[in-house]
Amino acid sequence: MPAVVIVGAQWGDEGKGKATDLLGERVDYVVKPNGGNNAGHTVVVDGEKFELKLLPAGILSPQVTPVIGNGVVINLEALFEEIGMLESRGVDASRLRISANAHIVAPYHQTLDKVTERFLGKRAIGTTGRGIGPAYMDKIGRLGIRVQDLYDESILRQKIEGALRQKNELLVKLYNRRAVEVEEIVETLLSYAERLRPMVVDTTLLLNDALDRGEVVLMEGGQATYLDVDHGTYPFVTSSNPTAGGACTGTGVGPTRIDRVIGIVKAYTTRVGAGPFPTELFDKWGEYLQTTGGEVGVNTGRPRRCGWYDAPMIRHAARINGFTDIVLTKLDVLTGIDEIPVCTGYDVDGVIHQDMPMTQTEFHHAVPVYETLPGWTEDLSEARTFEELPKNARDYVTRLEELAGCRISAIGVGPDRSATIAVHDLLPGASD
Ligand code: GDP
Ligand code: IMO
Ligand code: MG
Repeated sequence: MPAVVIVGAQWGDEGKGKATDLLGERVDYVVKPNGGNNAGHTVVVDGEKFELKLLPAGILSPQVTPVIGNGVVINLEALFEEIGMLESRGVDASRLRISANAHIVAPYHQTLDKVTERFLGKRAIGTTGRGIGPAYMDKIGRLGIRVQDLYDESILRQKIEGALRQKNELLVKLYNRRAVEVEEIVETLLSYAERLRPMVVDTTLLLNDALDRGEVVLMEGGQATYLDVDHGTYPFVTSSNPTAGGACTGTGVGPTRIDRVIGIVKAYTTRVGAGPFPTELFDKWGEYLQTTGGEVGVNTGRPRRCGWYDAPMIRHAARINGFTDIVLTKLDVLTGIDEIPVCTGYDVDGVIHQDMPMTQTEFHHAVPVYETLPGWTEDLSEARTFEELPKNARDYVTRLEELAGCRISAIGVGPDRSATIAVHDLLPGASD
């Protein structure tokens, strides 16, 4: 007891980093199962702000062993930059452990990400430009470079040659770019090998042994349900599986060992990048949420698109991830709105849908059906119990809980670790 999974329920940036950090003191291992440095988690501890892109937020808790799982794609330059940033601020990163099976984001993946987006023009995904898609394409296409390859130079060279044979054709003939030299890549990647070596272990053994000893393992999914390549708003998604099932394949921890799946849900909706977004706002309320919520992407600095809460999306996310609990974040941001619309269904070309429509075309055409709940003006940031919330805020939470079909176990009322209302224990059985 216990393995716990944290999953974003919307399009990312729900506050997963803060939720992990909140549980940090009671957790032994925090493992990142998917994604790479396309994530951006802001964690505020006693007023001090940390921005993480590649590392799991658990690294900020001194007794946690942070782990990068096999499902992650690692940009080595970004990794050491982030470690350096943390160490310069007094955070000990020496406990970090990295899977030998994790894949590497090579410089040519980043180049390909950018040229592909340009090539797509109007149909661009709006990626973070970090090379994530091309790195996962190589993984699935069996052309990827893994961390363990850094320790067998001849294999590394052969694999890079293999990957570049095809990519250089693309780069030169289709995208009009210069060819990438094999030796340049070999040298760049090898320059990190010795620094990386002490961190590289069989993380599946590490995590399963920890669970055997009764230690707590938290799996901190990057991205979110609707960015999932299988379950998200394809093709406007990332190239990994940020849903709960992906936490198993991305770490080597079997599904029977998971006790809790915690969905992180923002009290409204945001999205960065392109793709359908039925409740998106283009009026003063969109601006209000953007400004009050500080909705600017950590990773790319892009303003996040903002909209009202979308209940069918959360109900569907709860279903496909098997949420046992929800952490509702940023409730404080809604303070000051007279009446708060909540989407309870969609009108798709005259047909009312209570659930997510089956096809992407229908979702593109979905017009939200709203129910309106009364707002509140009281400041929530000091509330530490559910009863301390104003009645209308309590009613909003209760209605969201009903619509989600899953209990809300914690409520965020500010960015700081301490600005949280605990309703149900998220880690029963874990030692305090
Ligand atoms: P993540 O990617 O899911 O970890 O989320 P991000 O860190 O990208 O975005 C969430 C933002 O909301 C961060 O700036 C957090 O500091 C902030 N945040 C998290 N929870 C709360 C909350 O309950 N209230 C407020 N006002 N801000 C929050
Ligand atoms: P966290 O972990 C929000 C989005 C990008 C783009 C799409 C594909 O902070 O919630 P990619 O670079 O992954 O190929 O981009 O996915 N995206 C995110 N949006 N939060 C994230 O991470 C994201 N990671 C990727 O904006 O639309
Ligand atoms: Mg984020």
